[in-house]
Amino acid sequence: MKDEPDLLVGLDLGTTKIAVVVAELDSRSGEAQIIGVGEAPSMGIRKGMIVNLDQATRAIQAAVEDAESMVGLGIEDVTVAFSGAESASVRTRGMISLGRSARQVMIEDVDRIIEAAQSEIAVPVNRCILHTIPVEYTLDGHPGIDDPLDMTGVRLEVELQSIIVPSAVIQNVVNCVSKAGLDVSGLVMKPLASSLGCLSSEEAMAGVAVVDLGGGTTGVSVFSEGRPRRLSVIPVGGDHITNDLACVLRIPISRADALKKSVSLSPDSFGQNEKIEVESLGKILSFSTREVVEVIACRLDELFSSLVENELKESGVSMLPGGIVLTGGVSRLAGLDAYVSRLLDMPVRVAGPIDAGRMPPGMNSEEYASGAGIIRYVLEKERNPYRYIESDLSLDGPVSGGRAKRTGRGAASAANGKKRAGNGALKAVMENIRKSVKDLF
Ligand SMILES: Nc1ncnc2c1ncn2[C@@H]1O[C@H](COP(=O)(O)OP(=O)(O)OP(=O)(O)O)[C@@H](O)[C@H]1O
Ligand SMILES: [Mg+2]
Repeated sequence: MKDEPDLLVGLDLGTTKIAVVVAELDSRSGEAQIIGVGEAPSMGIRKGMIVNLDQATRAIQAAVEDAESMVGLGIEDVTVAFSGAESASVRTRGMISLGRSARQVMIEDVDRIIEAAQSEIAVPVNRCILHTIPVEYTLDGHPGIDDPLDMTGVRLEVELQSIIVPSAVIQNVVNCVSKAGLDVSGLVMKPLASSLGCLSSEEAMAGVAVVDLGGGTTGVSVFSEGRPRRLSVIPVGGDHITNDLACVLRIPISRADALKKSVSLSPDSFGQNEKIEVESLGKILSFSTREVVEVIACRLDELFSSLVENELKESGVSMLPGGIVLTGGVSRLAGLDAYVSRLLDMPVRVAGPIDAGRMPPGMNSEEYASGAGIIRYVLEKERNPYRYIESDLSLDGPVSGGRAKRTGRGAASAANGKKRAGNGALKAVMENIRKSVKDLF
């Protein structure tokens, strides 16, 4: 009998759609091949946050069933990308001595230095550390060390970036996915998943910002020297543009959404008096192209010139030779790349998933970059457990004080959405979160 394939499954909890990306892992090469994508319209999620548990649960079940029927296999556990709105990025530094004379850096030293840098963080009550990302190691004063393990020196330093999220947000995500009959084997903030899904490693090295324009949120991630320097979620997305059009032009939401997708933001459109006809409640209304694009541009100007620009400044990265990479559903708006490029005076390109060639046609465009990125995130953690550290909250009890811990190479694999892989440790983590925040509800 043929062995069951080893699956990695990513669940992208979007405001517009729930996407489930299924990949088959080749345990010999460590590579994963996407074999199917399932999807269902999102329900019970607004601005990236779960607002109705039952509705969101049903939407997740529908998306998972869609994926299961595509791949012909059952799905039991998933790594979940969620919005992480209200998250905060905190930078800290840690330093340890390796002894009087130079010696090789061991796994225990890396654990020790990460703990040292984390001890500098005052985690507010009812919040927890979701991701811990070593941004840069410095060995004996030499910065830019990618992976210090086995290197020789006397003094090791690290700069850490920690992503702190409200515990209740995680709790709701876990509850919802569990109610849908799935085990949560990992959690990832959406901007991290979407950037891993659409960026080449050369771009990430050069310095680049990824802006994932979704339905209810805009994820921003700034990369430099291959590492994310800032990850954030702005609670504004394509739905706001649709609502603006519906309010200003007084047309139904469904018409406004279709209108938004039909226009181009090319410079010509702003001078065009060509009429667009829209049927609304039995009447035909007529608007000029200029009127429509000006409403869209107004929201985009606020989003990019104020909110996104602010995130770029906060990242502390002064040079972005790779410019801005746009992804997510709204990035499909015709002429958006050139429009944003003029607005921010930076190079801008639109990118879909790097793995688009392996994804089903119609389910491989920009909207699916974050779903595909979950698989890349899981694989990166598998290859190097010190690159993206998910907090092992069970080790420290209360979720509000969660600290990341690694116990050695390969430790991450226990938390990597593998079908039928034991995930008792993660269950314990989630049980702990449940216990520690139950008085919030
Ligand atoms: N061709 C298009 N032109 C303009 N907007 C589009 C186009 N196609 C899709 N959109 C918009 O993209 C948005 C959905 O994008 P996406 O699927 O990436 O969101 P999501 O991942 O479900 O939401 P979020 O990440 O914000 O939680 C909707 O607002 C939709 O109207
Ligand atoms: Mg999205």
